[in-house]
Amino acid sequence: ETYGTSVNGVGGSTDSRTGDGETQQTLTDRQGHPISDNQNVRTVGNRGPVTLENYHFLEKISHFDRERIPERVVHARGAGAHGYFEAYGTCGDEPVSTYTRAKLFQEKGKQTPVFVRFSTVVHGGHSPETLRDPRGFAVKFYTEDGNWDLVGNNLKVFFIRDPLKFPDMVHAFRPDPVTNLSDPERMFDFLSLTPEATHMVTFLFSPWGIPANYREMQGSGVNTYKWVNQDGVAVLVKYHWEPIKQGIRNLRQSEADEIQKTNYSHATQDLYEAIERGDCPEWELCVQIMSDDEHPELDFDPLDPTKLWPREQFPFLPVGKMVLNKNPENYFAEVEQAAFGTGVLVDGLDFSDDKLLQGRTFSYSDTQRHRVGTNYLQVPINAPKKHVATNQEGGQMEVRVDRAPGQNPHVNYEPSTLGGLKEAPKPGRDHEPQYDAKLVRQKIDRANDFQQAGDTYRAFEEWEREELISNLVGALSVCRPHIQEKMIEYFTNADADYGRRVLEGLALANNGKQDHTSTAAADQAADKARGLGGKT
Ligand code: HEM
Repeated sequence: ETYGTSVNGVGGSTDSRTGDGETQQTLTDRQGHPISDNQNVRTVGNRGPVTLENYHFLEKISHFDRERIPERVVHARGAGAHGYFEAYGTCGDEPVSTYTRAKLFQEKGKQTPVFVRFSTVVHGGHSPETLRDPRGFAVKFYTEDGNWDLVGNNLKVFFIRDPLKFPDMVHAFRPDPVTNLSDPERMFDFLSLTPEATHMVTFLFSPWGIPANYREMQGSGVNTYKWVNQDGVAVLVKYHWEPIKQGIRNLRQSEADEIQKTNYSHATQDLYEAIERGDCPEWELCVQIMSDDEHPELDFDPLDPTKLWPREQFPFLPVGKMVLNKNPENYFAEVEQAAFGTGVLVDGLDFSDDKLLQGRTFSYSDTQRHRVGTNYLQVPINAPKKHVATNQEGGQMEVRVDRAPGQNPHVNYEPSTLGGLKEAPKPGRDHEPQYDAKLVRQKIDRANDFQQAGDTYRAFEEWEREELISNLVGALSVCRPHIQEKMIEYFTNADADYGRRVLEGLALANNGKQDHTSTAAADQAADKARGLGGKT
């Protein structure tokens, strides 16, 4: 599909003549008026003043004044590409239908078109792509049953497990609201009171926090979802994208700094150029599966997004592969207006009770109604590539009415005896989980905040541990001692060697900079190091 030219219905025609001397290349305004002078505004004499009836000028300038939409509140910086997903029809040794009835997975070789947007998270739309940050990995599958969005990251775990904490977390990671300067102390102030983030921090400050580019990185759904089969039986599932063809490559801080000296957009450029030269990136989609229960035998909660499911116990089962083979034709129309959300599932896929996932599911479509507009699902990149027939009406920028052929156009409600839309047949037995619990505000029982952080630390190669320590020491050295101490406590809880190396690194960095025995003096020294003067 061609975006931009196809929407007005005249693009794509091979006949380039349209009327009196006018061709398809003739400049017009949005009313279709040919523009014969695009150089001079209409003025009283050639020295002005300008008159107010300059329709072409006023339209041109006022559209320009509105060229921007709000950028994404997180993940503002991104790049996208089109491609397809090809199913294997199996899940490990089983037919995939054992676990899910989702149509896109069933048949070996079946292809489903996709659009993918990769991103960084914290900083704005033109920030360097070399920054230490998780990378977004959002996939829109245009399936025969409507769209499915798998909105993931490159890293397989997350900082928090409760969605109530998300806005505070993002504020802490962002520049200071007064100085507009990035300040690691704000980030670590929050993290020092968020022990569940220790695992994610261990990944983020290691080389895994700066993937070499978007092609040579993994993707993960992070949250736990469910798959539902024809009998309505569910399993818990985690999704993983493995870049088998490209491999995984992460950067040392010094390598990222080197790239950033000359290029703020190396990842966008790498993706675009690879696809242009036909070197199309591929990922295999693997799932991990658990029966749908609480798994009291595990030392973590399967619904906790700060945890990995150990691969030895829950192997990666390949279910298909994705190939990205086409660059967007227009960045704004496709990449900027793309709207992904965790609520966008198809039959055979379901939510788990993962609280973070449920919080996310409200947030995405809410922000998109604000960011793109009420009818954001009518924008071609977001619209399903299948029939859509709703009784929704109006709203800003409605460009089509979702009527079905043969539908009585007077009936925009359901149910009706007068020729309106009809409900679809049930695709299979409903999955009906049962609940018997008090309504509470409580954290989960098996928080186990440090053990997997230690496992991850020990699983790193030595150069990765060295980078991790040096990156943490660099960031923590501008923090007040009580924040440093809390973080060292967390790292020590994860692994004694980990805590000791950060402590020693900080002692060296702090050496001569401040007097450890006086907190006030140390605080002032930290303020100075950050260039903030006497903040208290
Ligand atoms: C984007 C909220 C956690 C991955 C966004 C956006 C919001 C948001 C508001 C902007 C969407 C837009 O403007 O279109 C939240 C909340 C979270 C959360 C409230 C937790 C409570 C996560 C997690 C992941 C993630 C755990 C990874 C699994 C993404 C990605 C995007 C995004 C990849 C960019 C999508 C795109 O490319 O358009 N998130 N998020 N988020 N989020 Fe989250």
